[in-house]
Amino acid sequence: MSTIPITKKVKRMKGVRPGETVRVLISEARLQARLKELAKAIRRDFPTEPLHLIGVLKGSVFFLTDLARELGGEVSFDFLSVSSYGQGTDSTGEVKLIKDLDVSIEGKTVIVVEDILDTGLTLKYLLRFFEEKKPKHLRVVVLLDKEERRIADVHADYVGFAIPNEFVVGYGLDFDERYRNFPDVCALEFATKNKSKST
Ligand code: IMP
Ligand code: MG
Repeated sequence: MSTIPITKKVKRMKGVRPGETVRVLISEARLQARLKELAKAIRRDFPTEPLHLIGVLKGSVFFLTDLARELGGEVSFDFLSVSSYGQGTDSTGEVKLIKDLDVSIEGKTVIVVEDILDTGLTLKYLLRFFEEKKPKHLRVVVLLDKEERRIADVHADYVGFAIPNEFVVGYGLDFDERYRNFPDVCALEFATKNKSKST
């Protein structure tokens, strides 16, 4: 898996606000091709097991639903929601559970589905939370990995793309709740400095 280079391809799409620019980083076609490979890798490790996917809202929604359809065999899924950072750009390390799981994960083969691994603080909190609930297996799949930004000592078992330290949007990822609906993963830039993170 190679790190994705930032392209110069500026996307002129409806919904891009003045003062903001989006450059396509990973095209829709490339995302879908990689998803097939990720699904195969997961199924290679768990060929016959029922898989219980847990999506972290809201960024992982498209990734989870596309991945679920690529995974053959028995698949169920659930979602939970956490808030990580409040308003700012930098992590406080505080993670708060906003929406809990609907069903028990005890004895299940759980695959945590995350949009992006950044500082890793959210995932660290989640893994501790899930481990206490005694799943049979606990694995993590992330679409994007910003390795450079890591603070917490965590890793994902399956990674879609390693990306440089850029703020990215699209395919579920947002900036202030916008851009989630863009089909490609794009790097977002600002004319003025006004970045913040959200889940
Ligand atoms: P972490 O706890 O720093 O690893 O990141 C937690 C969450 O921050 C991710 O699941 C995303 O929802 C969000 N996040 C981190 N980086 C980005 C980004 O570049 N764009 C959009 N959201 C991001
Ligand atoms: Mg997230």
